[in-house]
Amino acid sequence: MSKKKRKYANRLKNMTSFKVVDFLEAAVAMEAKGHDIVRMEAGEPSFPTAPAIVSAAARALKEEKTHYTPSFGITELREAIAGFYMTRYGLDVAPERVVVTTGSSAALGLICDLFINPGDGLLLTDPGYPCNANFVRRAGGEPQLVPVYADNAYQLTAELVEQYWQSNTIGVMIASPSNPTGEIIDLENQRAINEVVSQRDGVLIMDELYHGLVYDKSETSILEITDDAFVINSFSKYFGMTGWRLGWMIVPEDALVPISVMTQNFYISPPSIAQYAALGAFEDSTIELMEARREEFQRRRDFFVPALRELGFIIPHMPAGAFYVYANIENLADDSEAFCWQMLERAGVAITPGTDFGEYLARQHVRFSYTQPMERLELAVERLANVLDGR
Ligand SMILES: Cc1ncc(COP(=O)(O)O)c(C=O)c1O
Repeated sequence: MSKKKRKYANRLKNMTSFKVVDFLEAAVAMEAKGHDIVRMEAGEPSFPTAPAIVSAAARALKEEKTHYTPSFGITELREAIAGFYMTRYGLDVAPERVVVTTGSSAALGLICDLFINPGDGLLLTDPGYPCNANFVRRAGGEPQLVPVYADNAYQLTAELVEQYWQSNTIGVMIASPSNPTGEIIDLENQRAINEVVSQRDGVLIMDELYHGLVYDKSETSILEITDDAFVINSFSKYFGMTGWRLGWMIVPEDALVPISVMTQNFYISPPSIAQYAALGAFEDSTIELMEARREEFQRRRDFFVPALRELGFIIPHMPAGAFYVYANIENLADDSEAFCWQMLERAGVAITPGTDFGEYLARQHVRFSYTQPMERLELAVERLANVLDGR
């Protein structure tokens, strides 16, 4: 290995690693040694890609649709996504406002690069999706973490936005349903937050990545309130296409040209085969399948949350969506990282410590991802019970 002392750019200094990957890699290494691990650390559905999506991809390969596409994506897909807003929410979204991206990760990064100058701040929830703070740092900005509480479904409120807004704050990023809590923000709260942000001429970035995976509440898009928000979404979660690396955003028209400067330069176009494959996501057979999967996730949640409570995990309310449970472990342990390593090594159950998602009470929380089949969830509960009882 080279001993050369390289000088890496300063922007990397404050970036944090994605801890879930540490647990994922440790779980994979244990599996390679023959251990059976219940994998509840990563946020990806365990289901295979829907048949209509696979067929659309195969067709595209056969037809050699393997070239660059326009940088905002193929017209058919932008139209199909716009049409989805009509069927899902009754919203008229112009296809021109749809920007297809290489995963929503690219969209989140692009939006941060679009608005953040060095020294600018962006309000983020703590806990929240860990990569967001690093997108802000990459743009030279300051992630301004706002502690959120179980009482507010771990979400921001207009009051919190007002309270934490600083002279260098340029906007707010929220997610509903959220990762790691699975909690949602109702329309009234979204409206109130939007008002506070627009009074300050700020930018509102709304991550709707887990839309489609909301269980016993109704689902609303921020676009029902305003066309001025930057809405992020993806084929990864509801459509179960994590590895295809395809997301999208809906943006106000005036932002299209500045965004195109970045998409054209940064990655030219989203992957072509994935885009043609994604056309299959809007076929009736796929939507039917995804709805059945949503029901299955709900069944898993309804089994798993009470079972965890029985084991001593504190879960103040039933998470409304996504496939995560953010559980307080204060009755069981005092350090979530040590706890997660212990559960991996002794129980063969891989989960993620709260420290991946922020700082606020992070050592008192862990995240479970209930994407595994029911029998594996039952096994996880049994194994956790054995280890927790034996301590
Ligand atoms: C809230 C949230 N936003 C964005 C992403 C990025 O997803 P992708 O790049 O696969 O679309 C994730 C992934 O887990 C997430 O949980």
